[in-house]
Amino acid sequence: MADFHIEEEEFTSQVHGRIILRIISLLKPHLLWALGFLFLIALVSVLDAFFTYISKLMIDQGILKGDYQELLKLILIYGGLALIQAASVFGFIFLAGILGERVQYDLRKKMFDHLQTLSFSYFDRTPVGWIMSRVTSDSGKIAELVTWGLVDVTWAIMNIGTSLIFMFIIHWRLALIVLAVVPVMVWVAVLFQRKILEQYRQVRKQNSRLTGGYNEMITGVRVIKALCREEQNLEEFSLEAGSMYRASYRAAWFSALFLPCVQIIGSLALGAIIWYGGLEKISGEMTLGGIQAFIFYVAFMLWPIQDLARVWASMQNALASAERVFSLIDSNPEVQDRAGAGDHCSLLKVIDFNHVDFFYEQGKPVLEDFNLKIRQGESLALVGPTGGGKSTIINLICRFYEPVGGTILFGGVDYLRYTQEAIQSRIGIVLQTPHLFSGSIEDNIRFGRLEASLKEIETAARLSCAHEFIVKMDKGYEQEVGEGGSLLSLGQKQLICLARAVLSDPDIFIMDEATSSVDALSEALIQNGLEAVMKGRTSIIIAHRLSTIRRAERILVIENGHIVEQGSHTELIGAMGRYHSLYTQQFRQSLLLPPLA
Ligand SMILES: Nc1ncnc2c1ncn2[C@@H]1O[C@H](COP(=O)(O)OP(=O)(O)O)[C@@H](O)[C@H]1O
Ligand SMILES: [Mg+2]
Repeated sequence: MADFHIEEEEFTSQVHGRIILRIISLLKPHLLWALGFLFLIALVSVLDAFFTYISKLMIDQGILKGDYQELLKLILIYGGLALIQAASVFGFIFLAGILGERVQYDLRKKMFDHLQTLSFSYFDRTPVGWIMSRVTSDSGKIAELVTWGLVDVTWAIMNIGTSLIFMFIIHWRLALIVLAVVPVMVWVAVLFQRKILEQYRQVRKQNSRLTGGYNEMITGVRVIKALCREEQNLEEFSLEAGSMYRASYRAAWFSALFLPCVQIIGSLALGAIIWYGGLEKISGEMTLGGIQAFIFYVAFMLWPIQDLARVWASMQNALASAERVFSLIDSNPEVQDRAGAGDHCSLLKVIDFNHVDFFYEQGKPVLEDFNLKIRQGESLALVGPTGGGKSTIINLICRFYEPVGGTILFGGVDYLRYTQEAIQSRIGIVLQTPHLFSGSIEDNIRFGRLEASLKEIETAARLSCAHEFIVKMDKGYEQEVGEGGSLLSLGQKQLICLARAVLSDPDIFIMDEATSSVDALSEALIQNGLEAVMKGRTSIIIAHRLSTIRRAERILVIENGHIVEQGSHTELIGAMGRYHSLYTQQFRQSLLLPPLA
C-alpha cells in the first residue's frame, strides 16, 4: 500500500484563470438556463437589501410618524416583493439541480468517450481507482462548483455591493467607517483560509492514498488473505489514516478559531455604528430606522466574508478536481490513426517485422532489431520462458502498442497506414486473462460479431468446446456470467472468449496462453476443433503446454526478445537444442506427476 498512491497533483495559481474559464465554458451548452440562474440569484440578493431598506422606511415614515397609510403601503410592497423572492428562491434551487446534473452528464460522457480512445499504455500507467474517482467524485465536484459555487460567489458580490450602496444612500459618513472594517475582515479571513487550506490539502493527499490503498486491498483481497498480509496492511493503513487524522484535527482547530475572531471584529463594527450613529441621531443627522438598517447591512456584508474560507476551500477543491478531469480529457492516445490511414482490406497477407525496436518503459528495451516474417495463412507458435516477449510481439501485431523503431508491414504496407479499426476488427484474439462483460453467455459470445445468429453462436461454441459446459448450465446460453464473468471458472471464461474470437471470423487468429486454465484433455479437443477454424487464416498460438503446439507449421523459441530457434516440431526436436530440452522436461514432468483427479 505504501508505494501505491496517486499524489493529488499540486496546482498553481497561474493556471487557475485558464481552468476557471474552461469550467465556465462547461455552461455554454446550457447558456440560457445559466443566465436565468444567475439572474435569479442576483434578484434574491437585491431583494434582501430592499427589504432592509423598506424596514427602515417603515420605522421612520410609518411607525415613528404614526402614518398608518404609509405603513400599510410599505407592508403591501414588502409582501409583494417577498412573494417574488420566494419564487426566485424556488427557481434558482431548481435550476441549480438541473444545471449540475447536465454539466455532470456532459463531463461523464466526455470522459467515457475519451477513455475508449486511449491506448493500452495509458491504462498501464493509470490505476483504475484513479480513473474511477475522476468519473464519479470529481465530475460531481465540478458540477457543484458551477452551481453552488456560482451561487456563493454571486451572492457574496451582490450582498456586499448592494449593502454598501444602500448604506451610502442612508448615511455616507457612517458608510465610510463601515467600509474601513472590510479590509481588516478580509485580511483575517484570508489569513485563516490559508492555514485551513494547507491542512485540507494534507487531508486530501492522505485521502487519495487511502483510496488507492482501499482499491488495491479490495481488488487483491484474495491474495492478501492467501498471503496472510492482513496485519501488515492494517499497519500501513493505520499509519496513513493517522496522519490524515492529525491534519483534519489541525484544520478543525483553525476553523473553530476563525468564527470567534470574525465575530469580535463584527461586534466592534456594530459598536461603532451604534456609537457614531447614536451621536448623529441625537444631532438629527440620522434616523432610528437608519441605525437599524445599518446593523442589518453590516451583517449582510460580514456573512459572505465569514464564509470566504469555506467557499475558498471548496473552490480550490473543485479546481483541483477540474484539473484532474481535464487532464484525463486532454490526454492524447499514444496509438492514433495517422492522417490518410485507410482500410487496405483483408489482413491475410505476409506480416513482416522489419528491424523492430520496442519498449514499454524508456531504457528497458523488450525487442531490439527484431525481424520476423509470418507467411500468409501460416500457423505459427511462440514458446519460451515467461517475460521473453511473446505477448509483446502480439501486442505489436494488434497495434495495441506501436514499434518505437523499425516497421511492421502487412503485405508490404506499413501498418501505420491502416486505421486501428481496420487492423483490430480483423484479428481475433484470446488472452490468458479472459474478460467477460456482465450479461448472458450468449451476449458475450455475440460480442465477436453482433449480427451473428444463435445457430452461428452455437457452432462457434462447439468448435471451441464451450458448448458442452454451456448446455449443462441451468439456463444454458441465457446464463448470466456476473460482473467480469465472476460466476464462471477461469477455464470456462477462456472457452467463451475462444468462441467469441471464432465467431468474429478473423483473418488473423491469436491465442496467448488462451487455454492455460483448461485441462489437458479439453485443450487437445479444442486443438482439434480449432484446426478447422484456422484453415485459411494466419494463426499465432502461444502455449505453455508444448503438446498443444506440436502441429504448428513453425515454432519460434523466444528468449529475451530474440528468436533463438525456429522450425517445425520434428526439426526442433531433431536439433536437440532449447526446444528439445523444454519439451523433454515437460514430457518427463507429465510422466512423474500422478494424473490430477
Ligand atoms: N505493460 C507493460 N509495461 C511494462 N513492461 C511490460 C509490460 N508488459 C510486459 N512488460 C515487460 O516486457 C517484457 C516481455 O513481456 P511479455 O511480452 O509479456 O513476455 P511473455 O509474454 O513472453 O511472458 C517483460 O520483461 C515484462 O516485464
Ligand atoms: Mg505473455
